[in-house]
Amino acid sequence: MRRKLIAANWKMYKTPDQARAFVSEFKPMIAGHDRDDTALFPPFISIPATLEAVAGTKIEVGAQNMHWEKQGAYTGEVSADMLKCVGCTQVIIGHSERRQYFGETDIGVNRKLRGALADGLKAIVCVGELFEERESGLTESILRRQVGAALREISGADVDKFCIAYEPVWAIGTGKTATPEIAANAHIFIRGEAAKAIGADAARKLRVIYGGSVKPENAHALMSQEEIDGALVGGASLDPKSFAAIVNW
Ligand code: 13P
Repeated sequence: MRRKLIAANWKMYKTPDQARAFVSEFKPMIAGHDRDDTALFPPFISIPATLEAVAGTKIEVGAQNMHWEKQGAYTGEVSADMLKCVGCTQVIIGHSERRQYFGETDIGVNRKLRGALADGLKAIVCVGELFEERESGLTESILRRQVGAALREISGADVDKFCIAYEPVWAIGTGKTATPEIAANAHIFIRGEAAKAIGADAARKLRVIYGGSVKPENAHALMSQEEIDGALVGGASLDPKSFAAIVNW
């Protein structure tokens, strides 16, 4: 049995004060929850405040991006090493918004994953097709390319240190959720592609989580699927009640 991971991607929302306020409301709502792993991904600037606020709980805190080098002349970037130093345990890599608006490439995603693992950060690697790609029957070839590239030279021995988030771009922030069946089928395909890179045994242990308009109303149906190992939640994770309802699916 793979343990599920329910993660909040706050994107470019929440100042340090807003992050603190979220955690103080959220904590009591999930007190005693031990079934799944829970993680919050604030903007860089709000990471320290979030870490202080979750101290003493099992909630993990991560960043939404990183650079693959430890340090260097890379204006505006933050390294895995630096994230680890402040107390982050996780990082999101290759989110579609980074691919779409900031030129993130498959090669960059692979470098970041290798960098994160080398520096002891756990990673959520995002993959997913655009609406036009799904409509043109290209979903599998896109997922094959993204998963294959991301996992190049990644060892199956590290499978407990990363997971893949299937985030169909057409479902992100649109209110259009993939049906549990569409998501589960994509997850099976992703696991099959991962097996080619890290081996079948490791691929069976790999968590493949779903992201794209996850809400309290659809969380139970999605999370009940054996193939869906958790959720990466955007909009509905900004409100403590709504995110707690998802965690308590
Ligand atoms: P929404 O939940 O707002 O659709 O965003 C999903 C997402 O991009 C999580 O990384």
